[in-house]
Amino acid sequence: MSQMLDFDDNAARAMEAMYLTPDVVGQRAKVIEMLAPAPGEHVLDIGVGPGLLAYDMARMVGEGGRLAGLDASAAMLKVARTRLAALPQAECIQGDATELRFPDESFDIAVSTQVHEYVADMGKALKELHRVVKPGGRALILDTDWRSVVWHSSDQARMDRVLLCWDDHLADPHLPATLGAGMRKAGFGMLRVEIVPMLSPQWQPVSYAAGIMKSIRGYAMANGERHGLSGEEVQAWYDDQLRLAERGEFFFSVNRYAFLGVRQAAVEGP
Ligand SMILES: C[S@@+](CC[C@H](N)C(=O)[O-])C[C@H]1O[C@@H](n2cnc3c(N)ncnc32)[C@H](O)[C@@H]1O
Repeated sequence: MSQMLDFDDNAARAMEAMYLTPDVVGQRAKVIEMLAPAPGEHVLDIGVGPGLLAYDMARMVGEGGRLAGLDASAAMLKVARTRLAALPQAECIQGDATELRFPDESFDIAVSTQVHEYVADMGKALKELHRVVKPGGRALILDTDWRSVVWHSSDQARMDRVLLCWDDHLADPHLPATLGAGMRKAGFGMLRVEIVPMLSPQWQPVSYAAGIMKSIRGYAMANGERHGLSGEEVQAWYDDQLRLAERGEFFFSVNRYAFLGVRQAAVEGP
C-alpha cells in the first residue's frame, strides 16, 4: 500500500534546497533544451513545485507569452508564487493533474517533472494533458524509475528493504517503463526520450544524493514498520552511508527519464 508524501511547508523547503543542487540544475537545462520554449509561447507547468523550472521558462517566453503553474499543494504554491512574483506573464493556481481547469488547446507546451509518479490515475492525467495542449504542441514528462538505483551499502539486504519502503512514497515508482506507451496511447507522437541521471560517484554534502538520503530517512522512520524496519535500523542505514562517505567509498546513482511528445490530432484506440 502506498503512503504518499505530504507536500507541506517542511517538504517544500527541503525540496527547494534539493532542487537547487547541480544534478537538478542540470536536469532543468536538459528539459529546457528539449522543449526549446520560444518568446510568446504559452506554457503549463503541472506540479510546479518551488517554481524553479517555471521561472526559467517564464523568462524565455517573455511578457508576450504565458506561464501557468499548477500544483495540488498550497505550501508549494506559496514558494512558487514568491519566486514568480516579478514576472507578469506567470500565474500559479491550485489544482490536480487529473483535472486541468483550462480550456481545450490552451498551451503550446505542457511540462511536468517529478509529478506523475505521484498520480494514481495516469490514464485520466494523460487525457487531460492531451486536451489542454494545442495540436502540434509539445508535452514533456520526466519521472524517476527507482529500479534504476545503484547505491553502495555495507548491508545490501537492509538497503533493499529501505528502498522497498521508499517505493511506497509514490503511486508508481517505475512509471518511466510504461510512460512512453501511455503518452502514445493518449495521442502524443514521441519525439525524444532521454535519461537524466542523478549521479554522486563520491560524497558531496550539497547534492541530490545527500538531500534524498535525508528524505528517505524521514520517510522510512515514519513508515518503515510495514516493511519490518525499526527506527534503529533506519538510522543504522543512514549512519552507514556517512561512514562510507568518510572512507571515500560512497556511490549513488538513479535515473530519471524525460519523454518529449508532440500532440497529434486523434487519440489511438478505445
Ligand atoms: C517532487 S515535486 C516536483 C516539483 C517540480 N515539478 C520540480 O521538478 O521542481 C512534486 C510536485 O508535484 C505536486 N503534485 C503531486 N501530485 C500532484 C497532483 N495530482 N496534481 C498536481 N500536483 C501534484 C506536489 O505538490 C509537488 O509540488
